[in-house]
Amino acid sequence: MRIWRIALLLLAAAAPEGKQIVLHGNSNGAMPCAACHGVNGQGNASIGAPALAGRPAAAIVSALNNLASSQGSGPMPAIAKALTPQERQDVAAYFAGLAVGILPPNE
Ligand code: HEC
Repeated sequence: MRIWRIALLLLAAAAPEGKQIVLHGNSNGAMPCAACHGVNGQGNASIGAPALAGRPAAAIVSALNNLASSQGSGPMPAIAKALTPQERQDVAAYFAGLAVGILPPNE
């Protein structure tokens, strides 16, 4: 578990695949995360999309895994399902590596 976390931290330093998916989505139908969560991962309160910048990658992966197996409403279950386990790690590493400086005050 600890090694896995370290691996995610290393991924955060360079996650070109994650950035690609965040900005452009993937070929499996996942919409670009940036459309709702912001290009800087700052979130969008008006549509209820939480900020993801600077969150621990493991927490983002775990949230995506939960969403992928949920029957919940909203856009996320389908989007999470459209990401492979590797892609979940890649986007998580990308968001985890973004600066938190521009988060809204309540985050
Ligand atoms: C169409 C808008 C939209 C898109 C596109 C989108 N999201 Fe979301 N996302 C939301 C909303 C709204 C929520 C909050 C409600 C929920 O959890 O379903 C959310 C919640 C989440 C959460 C859970 C955060 C928490 O606090 O539990 C994660 C993680 C997440 N999104 C990651 C992603 C990733 C990664 C992508 C791109 C592959 C993405 N989202 C694309 C709208 C979007």
